Amino acid sequence: MNTNLAQTLATSNVAEVVVPCPELDQTLSFFVEQLGFRIEMITPADNPNMAIISGYGIRLCLRTGGSGKDIVLRLHSVDRTAQTLQAPNGTTIEITNPNIGVELPELCESLIVTSLNSEASWTIGRAGMRYRDLIPSRLGGVFIASHIHIPNGGPVPDYVHYHRIKFQMIYCKSGWVRVVYEDQGEPFVMNAGDCVLQPPEIRHRVLESSDDLEVIEIGAPAEHETFAEHQITLPTAQLRPDRDFSGQRFVRHIASESPWQPWRYAGFEARNTGIDAATLGYASAMTIRAKKTATMSENKHQHQLMFMFMLSGSAKFAVDNQPDPLVVSSGSSLTLPSSCSYRLEIVSDSTEMLVVEVD
Ligand SMILES: [Fe+2]
Repeated sequence: MNTNLAQTLATSNVAEVVVPCPELDQTLSFFVEQLGFRIEMITPADNPNMAIISGYGIRLCLRTGGSGKDIVLRLHSVDRTAQTLQAPNGTTIEITNPNIGVELPELCESLIVTSLNSEASWTIGRAGMRYRDLIPSRLGGVFIASHIHIPNGGPVPDYVHYHRIKFQMIYCKSGWVRVVYEDQGEPFVMNAGDCVLQPPEIRHRVLESSDDLEVIEIGAPAEHETFAEHQITLPTAQLRPDRDFSGQRFVRHIASESPWQPWRYAGFEARNTGIDAATLGYASAMTIRAKKTATMSENKHQHQLMFMFMLSGSAKFAVDNQPDPLVVSSGSSLTLPSSCSYRLEIVSDSTEMLVVEVD
């Protein structure tokens, strides 16, 4: 073993991933010159067939004898353009730039009605949490809405984490849940009717829930990354309710402290969660209540997402003047495409809905 290699390997607790290549020269040049890796060791001097390189928090051992085509290397760099490259040895290089904002895929609208009947499909997630998908098509990958049920309360096995998202809110339908958010003070309890807007990348943790907690969670994009946070512990020392997270403020809406106010249709009243102000008009969420026989009808809308969840009561729902309206009741959800004209006639007392619009 030559001295350099011995010195390199004498450093304690280092590791390399072996990346095979048919030849060393071209592949090594690519990693060093195009990607900015640094050479740590190369051997043998007269006709090299192995090199250890480092960069992006990883060490690679480029070694002749084989192809690297089955290997995908993901590099995260704030200085580089997000792109996918092919190294001379066949290895795929995926470069992402975490400073580039979250981009949403192209919206693919459709009318989606779900109901909470015996055929409602629940899937079992981690720790016994039950999930019901309220937008199975995901509108082309743009939005996800889930009805989440935790049957057995107690401490929640969560850790401080954050999401790369453009929009995310959680509405407590029934039961209670104790949560804590970065720079928003001590942990607090969300009760039925309360909701939070989780702005992009806010650190948070779910601590504890009641039995039979039910929440509605809505987010964009439908598939997003969740990162574990290892540095920041919660609660944080500072209280910064006006902190800007990528153009949004955190919202804690407490239903019992929020007055009912007239809504845009006669016979309806709304509790505004404040998400419209906190997102500068990008999204809004309201709890709506209506008297029996009140009717709302709308001819097309302008939003990317128009979503309603029936919290209680029931209504007759018809699109495009269909003669046979559908009865939607507690637990049903409606996702309405912008082209659709619809009519919703409240047919029972104590009807309440969550209405969420995202532009
Ligand atoms: Fe989360």
